[in-house]
Parts: sequence; structure tokens; C-alpha cells
Amino acid sequence: MGKGFYISKPLGVVAIILCAGALATIIALSVVYSQEKAKNKNEISPTDGGATSKPTVTTAAPSNEPWDKYRLPKSLTPEYYNVILWPRLTLNMTTGLYIFTGESTVDFVVIEETDLILIHSNKLNYTQLDNGHLAKLTTVNSRAEAPTIKKSWLQTTTQYLVLELNGKLKKDQKYQLYTSFTGELADDLGGFYRSEYMEDGEKKIVATTQMQPTDARKSFPCFDEPAMKAVFDITLLHDHGTIALSNGKQKETSNITMNGHSVQKTVFEQTPKMSTYLLAFIVSDFGYINNTIGDVMIRIFARKPAIDAGQGQYALNKTGPILKFFESYYNSTYPLPKSDQIALPDFNAGAMENWGLITYRETALLYDEEFSSNANKERIATIIAHELAHMWFGNLVTLRWWNDLWLNEGFASYVEYLGAHEAEPDWNVKDLIVLNDVHRVFAVDALASSHPLSSKEEDIQRPEQISELFDAISYSKGASVLRMLSDFLTEDVFTMGLRTYLKAFSFGNTVYTDLWEHLQTAVNTNGTELPDSVKNIMNTWVLQMGFPVVTIDTTTGAVSQKHFLLDPESEVTAPSPYNYEWIVPIKWMKTGQKETPIWLTKKSDTISAMNTSGLDWVLANLDVVGYYRVNYDEGNWERLLQTLSNNHTLIPVINRAQLVDDAFNLARAKIIPTVLALSTTKYLINDRDYMPWKSALNNLDFFYLMFDRTEVYGPMQDYLKKQVTPLFKYYKELTHNWTKVPNGHMDQYNQVNAISLACRTGLEECQTLAQTWFKEWMDTGKNQIPSNLRSTVYCNAIAAGGAKEWEFALSAFQNATIAIEADKLRAALACSKQPWLLNRYLEYTLNPDIIRKQDATSTIVYIAGNVIGQSLAWDFVRAQWSYIFSQYGGGSFSFSNLINGVTERFSTEFELQQLKQFKADNSEVGFGSGTLAVDQSIERTIANIKWIEENKNNVLAWFDKEAK
Ligand code: BES
Ligand code: ZN
Repeated sequence: MGKGFYISKPLGVVAIILCAGALATIIALSVVYSQEKAKNKNEISPTDGGATSKPTVTTAAPSNEPWDKYRLPKSLTPEYYNVILWPRLTLNMTTGLYIFTGESTVDFVVIEETDLILIHSNKLNYTQLDNGHLAKLTTVNSRAEAPTIKKSWLQTTTQYLVLELNGKLKKDQKYQLYTSFTGELADDLGGFYRSEYMEDGEKKIVATTQMQPTDARKSFPCFDEPAMKAVFDITLLHDHGTIALSNGKQKETSNITMNGHSVQKTVFEQTPKMSTYLLAFIVSDFGYINNTIGDVMIRIFARKPAIDAGQGQYALNKTGPILKFFESYYNSTYPLPKSDQIALPDFNAGAMENWGLITYRETALLYDEEFSSNANKERIATIIAHELAHMWFGNLVTLRWWNDLWLNEGFASYVEYLGAHEAEPDWNVKDLIVLNDVHRVFAVDALASSHPLSSKEEDIQRPEQISELFDAISYSKGASVLRMLSDFLTEDVFTMGLRTYLKAFSFGNTVYTDLWEHLQTAVNTNGTELPDSVKNIMNTWVLQMGFPVVTIDTTTGAVSQKHFLLDPESEVTAPSPYNYEWIVPIKWMKTGQKETPIWLTKKSDTISAMNTSGLDWVLANLDVVGYYRVNYDEGNWERLLQTLSNNHTLIPVINRAQLVDDAFNLARAKIIPTVLALSTTKYLINDRDYMPWKSALNNLDFFYLMFDRTEVYGPMQDYLKKQVTPLFKYYKELTHNWTKVPNGHMDQYNQVNAISLACRTGLEECQTLAQTWFKEWMDTGKNQIPSNLRSTVYCNAIAAGGAKEWEFALSAFQNATIAIEADKLRAALACSKQPWLLNRYLEYTLNPDIIRKQDATSTIVYIAGNVIGQSLAWDFVRAQWSYIFSQYGGGSFSFSNLINGVTERFSTEFELQQLKQFKADNSEVGFGSGTLAVDQSIERTIANIKWIEENKNNVLAWFDKEAK
């Protein structure tokens, strides 16, 4: 049994001062930490220590008590919290753990009379107080006595601290609940957790938080639902020489003595009314840089060597302009006096929008000219824009419950492009939403196992169900349909509605239809003509899954729509309130001239202007602002192909990317012949633009996945080599034999495409280039490889090399001074063709000293992406399932990515059986936030099997013919 840590009088004194007399009777409290950890999910770790706490342990039997429900009752609502936390950055030798201790009070108002208090609490151990219970209850602003506590315990399944009272809490009366507790500062990336890194040969610890969606309750007891907004007074205790950060500005610091050693106490300014999931507490010895924009203090924090190397500068330079942009876009001043952003060595997601203290993984915030590619730079600009967008949309105005998460994340994922465009106006970054979001999510939303954007509030209860919502549908479909909405309303009307919405609900909560109502008012004020109300139009996109393929027959002018399914034989069991019909805005052009946009409001219609003759062609869904695919009659497809090959610039660049992506996917759905899809790549021999090439490569990736173990592989390689050679030569010349960086952002991207495809298809000059560069680095110790090209060069050199190259890259990975460089090497290490190296690498993914926990699942997915690594990774995941599940099962993106990633190549009956077996074998353990991904993978595998059967021969013949 663990020995106790004692909170001595001074912390009691701090609490007394902070709680303004409310805790006046507090005597020295002791908090005891038990080394024994929870043995199973239904059992809490009893705190121990003689006279201190002895909470009741419950094993939840299924019953219908309020504490067995995942949602809080509506009887109480919090108004104010006062929280003091003291994370220890040194290991406690007795327990072998890192811990934190804390005390908190929460003032709440009674909405309905009750004799029960439920407050969220997870993995916290409570001090038994002098009343013999885990908490103490007093009244606020009243002489009346609070009811005494009858029974207090921890309900671990539903994550509550439960207090049964001897009397009723009175309606409209305010009460205060006091607790003292201890938690583990584990390396589990959730709640109050620790991150570790080495600096000058010394191990350093950071205490930091990730609350969203349901881990605030892991750092202090709280009403942990987004609508339970309150104001917070936060105090952190920390060692001298470290800095403490939270949502508010540091208000005062002082020295106090705790347990006989002197620590610093930092008190923060009170927060505005906010949700618990947006809180953040950090203690570190990081450095920072700062500036001021208007009245707002902006700071970038990171490990000192990173700050000293100037790696925070790009983020600092761009934050001000992006913040200003959103202030004017929302017509609302930034709601806080400061904006801190911090790069953490261990961080599960990419970034988190804690109000006033945004946390990032290092690769998403730190930039270094020498190491960072243009893609890395773009990610920094867009992710900053995304998180800053949340400061209003999400933080100032918050959706009432997680079922509406898609609006929060979808909105930020749309406007991140607007913010990034403001920061880098020359990049044309707004176009990229089509590749990154629209096309990306089409792939999952075309499955019968997809789901609507909107979920019912009652269907989203358990933490894993909430985590599962952080998926491509919420993010990318959300962003896509909001972009479509903004386009058909016009940007002016869209922002007008958005601004009144934010104003009306500041510091409050909403449901998604509140936004529609404000947009409708803007539409009415403006006199915008629409075929139906905003709500009715948007309902067709939000309440039913999937999207339509719009078919235009230019021989008749007939326009019709149909639910697009990647596998037309798959069975859609989910009923739709709109029968899988959508209200579709169609922007289009005829032979290069823009025409008046139309709406398709029913299954089919006739648009006489689309009835063409002669050489005229119709192109619909201009710039792919609409969330749908388009198909044409054969004649129109022919004329479009002709135009691509005669003068492709007549077709806007985004639509060239669209024609390729639509054609390939229509072919997969057996709507058009696969050879027609392949034909859309022929003209690429003349195109130098990034988007069409990327679109083709994304689709050809599927061909690689399906065919790189078959006889189609050779002819396919020959054809693609032929297509890419001119592009490779073009960039060789443009960059003066690879010595200069192309000017344009998109050109830089397409140079990477040129090299990666040229090397992949075996263009010797490319492979020599990659190997020479890498060898030079190995021989001289000087890395001369241009930063944009590093990922692809590393991968090719390691694939061509053996153990020597791999070991070299591994040690470069371990010694990298910037995470962005380490990440490129981490991906490239998965490119080896040696099974024994790949197996060794797989083992490393479960050793956090080699591969950080935040990177484990993505590394496994990288290995599975390699044709040699695929089966190794699949075997590995199956063998390690319970462990992997226990570590990552609750996480948000990583887990579904893992399942989709390792099964991506599945295309045989045998693999399908294995997958089904895997599902059956683990039905007890479950698949956590990856549950849906398992079904999606099964559906994809079935579609792949059929596709190969039907297409292998004609694809082989086509490549054979065209490769010549
Ligand atoms: N709120 C999320 C972070 C998050 C994700 C928290 C999942 C909890 C679970 C944040 O705003 C976000 O969306 N981050 C993205 C980056 C963005 C540019 C898409 C991320 O982390 O990848
Ligand atoms: Zn977000």
C-alpha cells in the first residue's frame, strides 16, 4: 500500500483565501495516494491510509438509478468553480508514480429539488473529510444549513462522484461542494497528463491537459457536459523555475511552503463563462516569444531549444493576422485578453482549442526553414486558423451536446481555409478543400455503412460514442456542406447570419438549427432567392447519409439524381427521411462559358439549356462547391475528354481534378466503364497543375493497392512512367537540376508528385537522384536534400537500401532536433522492403521510449501501407489487439484510422474471412471508437473483391495498350 502525500496547512490556507471564507473551517487535510490501481473497469482504487478515506466501491449492476445513466440529471447547474491543482513533475519514489493533488469548490444552483448530487469524476481518489465523506456541502448566501451527506461513493462506469443526502436541496438555492483529491499524472494523453522529453541529456516533464471530450473529470470533479458552463478561478502550484499556464492571464504569483518545500503559486484571472472541455492547465519550463495585436497578448510556447532556434516565429507571425481576420469575419472582438499557443512533445490530436491556451503537437506549430516542407508550413497556418476559429465558434458559442459536434468541427474545418488564405494569400489554399475534404470524405460517405452528419442527442451517451463522432464525416463532410451553403447563400449573407448567431448566443449554448434560423433571417433581409428554406435545403444534407450523383444527359437536357454508392449492390438499411433525394445547387458551364446556376429539387428534371448540340460540352459542379458527383451521357464525356486533350485550360483546374475523381469513382460504382476513367489520365502528360495530378494519384493509389501483387502491376508501372516522365523533366529544368525551389505553393506540391511517382514507377534517373542524395548525407553527415522533397527521397532511399540505410535513418530519427524532421523519418522507416526490419519496427511501436504513444497507431498504418508490411502489420495488430485496444481504444481519430489503415488493401475472400473472424473474435473486447471502422472495412473489402474480379482483365489490357 502506498504511503500518503499530505497537503499541509498552507494549501488549506490558500483555499481559505481563495474561497473567500467559505472554507473557513478547513483544517489541514491529508490526501493519501494508493499505489494500487483500479484492477478492472468497474472497480475504483480505494484510497488508503488509516484514518483517511474509505470510499465505497461499487460494481455497477445494471439498474436504472440516476448514477447508472451517462447524462447528468437536470436538477443542478454549476455557476462557479475554484480549483487549485498541484502537479508533481518528479517521480514519487514510494508509489513509483507521478501524481497531482487538488482541491476544488463548485457553486451550483438547484433547478429542481433533489436529494442527490452527481458530479463527474474519473480516476480521482478523494480524501475522506471530517464529515466522514468524500465531499463537504455548504449553502451559499444563506444562513440555512445544507443537508448532511448520507452516503458518498464513486460510480466508476458512468464516472461520477455520487452524494446521497439526508434532506432535499432547495430549488433556486445555491450550494457549494468542496473536495480534496489526488490523481495520477500518467502518460496517457488524456485529462491532466504528463509529457516527457530530453533536453541536454536530461529528462524533463511537462504537466498538461487534454479535456475534450470527457476528460476534464479526470483532473477535478466537475459537471462535465458542454452546456454546463461556469466561470473558473484556477490556481496552480508548481516548482520554482517552472511556469504555469491556464486559460486566463497570470494574475499573481507568490511563494508558499508546502510539505516543507517552497513552491510557487500562480493565480489566474477568472475565466468567462465556459465549458469544462475547454479548460487547460500546464506546468513546464518552456520558453516563449510574444507580441501584441491590439489589446491581445499573443505568445508561442515550446521547449526552450525550439524557441531559441526560432521555430515558433512562423506561428507567431501568422497568429495576429489570422486573429484579426476572424474578428472581422465574425464581426466580434476576440473574447479574451490573451492568446497562448503551446507545442507539446506528447499530444494525441493535432491541436486543441482550449480557450486562450491552444495546445498543439510540435509538428503542428513549430516551423524551421531548413526542415519544414511547404506542406508542413501549410498545416501550421491552417491548424492555427482552425483552432482560432473555434475561439468564437465552439468556445464563445457552444453546441449544447456532442451530437452536434459536426457543426463545431465542420465549421472550423471550413473556415480554416479562409483564415489560412488570409495568412498566405498567394497559395490558393482555399482550392485544396476539394482534395483534402470533399474527395476524402466522398470515399467513406459512399458506403452503405456511412452515417448522417447529425445524430440524435439520446444516441450519443458514452465517452466512446462521443469520441467516435470525431470522424471524417463530422470534419470533412461538415466542412463541405457548409462551404456549399456559404456559396449558394453568398459569403455576405452567410456571414451576416453567422454574426447575428454569435451575438445572440455568446457565452451560451445552441443546437444546429439555431444557426439555420439566423441564416434564414439573413436570407430574408437580403432577399436572396432560394428554392426552399435554409433548414429544408440543409436537412437533406444533414439528416441523411451519403450524397447524390447527378446525371446530365446532354442529348435531352434531362438532369437526375441518385444516391451514390461505391458498391451498387450494397444494401442500404438505414431509412432516410428524404428518401435519398437532395436539394442540389448546380453551378455549371457550357463549352467554357458560365451559365446561370440551377437547382435540382426533385428526382429528375429537364433543363433545356443543358441540351447541347455539336461540339458543345457541359461541365457541372463548378469548382466542386456542391457536395455531389456528376455523370454525363457518353457523348458529353467524349467531348470533355477531347477538351482535356486539346486544351485542358478551358476547364478550370479544380474541375480537372473533379473529372478524374468522379470518373474513377463512377467506374468503381459500375456507372461508367473503368477504361473511361483511366482515359481521364491520358491528358495529364500535358498538365503541370497540382490538383489534377494529385487527384489522379489518389485514385491510382487504389489501383496500386489492388494490383501491386498481380500481373497488372508491370504494365501499369510502364504507363505511369510514360505519363510522369515529362513532368519530372519539367521540374528538373524549372529547378535548375533540382537546385532551386519552385516559386508557387502548388508547384512545390506538384514537384513532390513528380518525384514520388517517377521514383515509384522506376524512372532510373529519379531513383539515382534519391539514392545519391541520401548517400551523400550518410557519407558526409550533411543533409542537402531540399525540405519539400525529404519525405519522398527518404522513403525511396530506404526502400532501395538495406539495414545500413535503415539504421542510419533510425538514428537520425532519434536525434532529430525538430519533430517535423523526426516525423518524415518515422514515415520513411516504414518504406523498407525487408520484412525483418519492418517486424522490428512494428515492435518499436509499442515501446514509448522509441515511438511516442501519440505516434504508435500512425506508424503501424505507415507499415501497413507498404506492400511488404501489410500482412506483417495485420498479424501484429491481431496479436496485440487487447493491448492496443486498452491503450488507444478510447482515442478519437487514431483508432478508426488504425483499423481502416491496416485493412485498406484487403481484396481477397481470404482477407475478408480474416476480417470477419477478427470482428467475431474481439466482439467482447469491442472496437471502441473504431466500431464503425470495422464495418466500413468489411464493406470496402467486399467491394474490392468484386471490383478486381470485374476489372482485372480490361484494366490489364488497357495499360498494356497505353503503355506502348
Ligand atoms: N477539437 C479538436 C481536437 C480534438 C480532436 C479533441 C479529437 C478531442 C478529440 C480540434 O479543434 C481539431 O479539430 N483538431 C484537428 C486539427 C484540424 C486542423 C482538423 C486535429 O487535431 O487534427
Ligand atoms: Zn476543431
